[in-house]
Amino acid sequence: MTGTLSVDSIDALIEALAAVGYEAERRLATAVFLSLRLQRPLLLEGEPGVGKTELAKALSKVLGRPLVRLQCYDGMEQREALYEWNHAAQLMHMRAQQNHAEPEQLEREIYQQKYLIRRPLLQALESPAPGAVLLIDEVDRADAPFEAFLLEYLGEFQVSIPEFGTVKAVCPPVTILTSNRTRDLNDAVKRRCLYQWMDYPDRERELTIVRAQVPEAGDALAEQVATFVARLRSAPFVSAFSRSPGIAESVEWAKALVALNTLQLDPEVVQDTVGILFKQREDVAALGPLLDALLAPADAN
Ligand SMILES: Nc1ncnc2c1ncn2[C@@H]1O[C@H](COP(=O)(O)OP(=O)(O)O)[C@@H](O)[C@H]1O
Ligand SMILES: [Mg+2]
Repeated sequence: MTGTLSVDSIDALIEALAAVGYEAERRLATAVFLSLRLQRPLLLEGEPGVGKTELAKALSKVLGRPLVRLQCYDGMEQREALYEWNHAAQLMHMRAQQNHAEPEQLEREIYQQKYLIRRPLLQALESPAPGAVLLIDEVDRADAPFEAFLLEYLGEFQVSIPEFGTVKAVCPPVTILTSNRTRDLNDAVKRRCLYQWMDYPDRERELTIVRAQVPEAGDALAEQVATFVARLRSAPFVSAFSRSPGIAESVEWAKALVALNTLQLDPEVVQDTVGILFKQREDVAALGPLLDALLAPADAN
């Protein structure tokens, strides 16, 4: 097997991820483990803030492979993903040579590799051993033609460049695709990937994350934050909001509460810091009337 697969079991992977600050549940770790073993891309879908992007970063640390990131967006084109020619440099070359070289020779010269600007996909394919971790982030933001363009890469870890022919991976990159599911992805893309749906963490896992990232919060406050956010994301409260807070929001909220010297959550301090949990005016307004119920002791719920 190529690459340095330093994790030989799912448990070892969970442990290695935890050691770099990423708390993975077993189902997710299994999907990652299989994607490494089978050398298949892994598609992670889920709401914003559940840890999709962070997983790719953590995996790059665990495997000791560089992270190459392709952030997708509406209107993204192949040349931004794969390569483009450095037109300015090509033009200068032509100006300098036009009186000295035959047209065919000139054409060969301006399509040299040194005038090629390598974008993330090509960088990942050309990464020397042990190979890269390629993060194709928020692929649902790109359009259908771009997804179609990805098929050759996802299926065979290669791409075709008209001027050179086929570029095949030196080492198959560990490939993570993420989607916030703003739209359904092409079936052909899904068929080439292993798939994992990612949910918000349960209270215990979120507590572990908050404790690890905001140790100064102390156990009592961290517990309250984890409990409060878990309630926000569950019935009946969840239906009152357009979006649930993600893990990043929980962590930032805990930091803010520490900055305000909070020892105990109360309606007032939650109201004062609500802008960290919710970024929609309607959601902020919806929170007020629910505060007493959200802050009630567990046994009274
Ligand atoms: N499993 C996890 N363990 C530790 N921290 C996490 C985990 N998941 C998310 N986080 C934290 O939450 C933040 C947001 O996660 P991110 O990966 O950006 O979400 P997504 O890409 O799904 O929108 C990260 O920067 C990280 O600090
Ligand atoms: Mg992300």
